[in-house]
Amino acid sequence: MHKTIEPKILYFGTPVVLISTLNENGTANLAPMSSAWWLGQSCMLGMSRFSQTVQNLERERECVLNIPSADLVSIVDKLALLTGKNPVPKYKEKMGYRYEPNKFEIADLNGTPSELVKAPRVTECPVQLEAIVENINSLQDPKSSLAAIEVSIKRVHVDENILIDGEKNYIDPEKWNPLIMSFCEFFGLSGKLHPSKLVPAFGLPHNKENLRDKTELETMK
Ligand SMILES: Cc1cc2nc3c(=O)[nH]c(=O)nc-3n(C[C@H](O)[C@H](O)[C@H](O)COP(=O)(O)O)c2cc1C
Repeated sequence: MHKTIEPKILYFGTPVVLISTLNENGTANLAPMSSAWWLGQSCMLGMSRFSQTVQNLERERECVLNIPSADLVSIVDKLALLTGKNPVPKYKEKMGYRYEPNKFEIADLNGTPSELVKAPRVTECPVQLEAIVENINSLQDPKSSLAAIEVSIKRVHVDENILIDGEKNYIDPEKWNPLIMSFCEFFGLSGKLHPSKLVPAFGLPHNKENLRDKTELETMK
């Protein structure tokens, strides 16, 4: 039986991203967000124009998308209800947000200099993507303050521990455990459920060691 409902939010589960950007005074801002999805070597980001991050992206046209693994969840939660925007927008103040200029420090995170952009990478995140802003679009609803931001990824840094053994350019989805936000709560992935027909179709290497069912490779041929 399906019910017709009017949910306040439609956050069905997307990876958390920590976006680092540069403030006007040259310091770094860091913001958790999760309205992010990937298209080839590009990423679409959904963020409020009232955030310091969007203001920084509009001015600097570059950022780093740092992707935390599920084990960094308590660190990510330390960044919630903080903004690098001063004064704090009224609606955020009512929600309990406060201004925080030193978000790396507050979350016990370190910065590593980026190679192509000015904003630092988050050292502790296993995936760090240096990106430039291609477009900042508005949504159709004129009342919405959300921006749909297209960035293109210019350099990819990954922790070698999440690579498929013996492969230089392939991330092992059995080793990579992204932090997922679903309806404002944090989750990890539960593990592989079933072999995927897309793996051979895309010419991706299999992690033979981690195959739970040794017949998997056969099944997928
Ligand atoms: C896990 C998590 C996910 C979030 N996802 C989004 C998002 O997708 N878009 C958005 O506008 N804000 C999102 N927020 C809220 C922003 O982090 C918040 O607006 C913050 O103040 C932005 O920081 P800034 O103002 O310093 O840029 C999220 C917060 C958390 C903790």
